[in-house]
Amino acid sequence: MTAAATRFVRVIPVEELRDGELIPVEIDGTPLVLVRHRGAFFAVQNNCSHRDFPLSEAGFDARDGYLVCAWHGGCFDVRTGAATVPPATDPVETFPTRVNGGYVEIGLTGSLLAGR
Ligand code: FES
Repeated sequence: MTAAATRFVRVIPVEELRDGELIPVEIDGTPLVLVRHRGAFFAVQNNCSHRDFPLSEAGFDARDGYLVCAWHGGCFDVRTGAATVPPATDPVETFPTRVNGGYVEIGLTGSLLAGR
């Protein structure tokens, strides 16, 4: 038995997000945050693991690639989802991204597969 290839869904044109910016996106009702950092795209769940505040309201620190939660200042490495600054201690879920035909696409993995 072989693992099924990851399916990707198109979210926004590449030029819609400048480097160092983030944008909320939604896939089948699941809210995510898409970040462009040093030319690459990263997608994470749009809920802080501390108290569920939307990370689309977060600041993005391009020096270290951290999302900074606007409620209590918890930080997450956008590349790995790891919580890097308390009070956040648990990671946030990350999703694969790719650029295809001028669009950013997000891979349906983890919680995005639930209910499919
Ligand atoms: S809700 Fe994000 S740090 Fe508390």
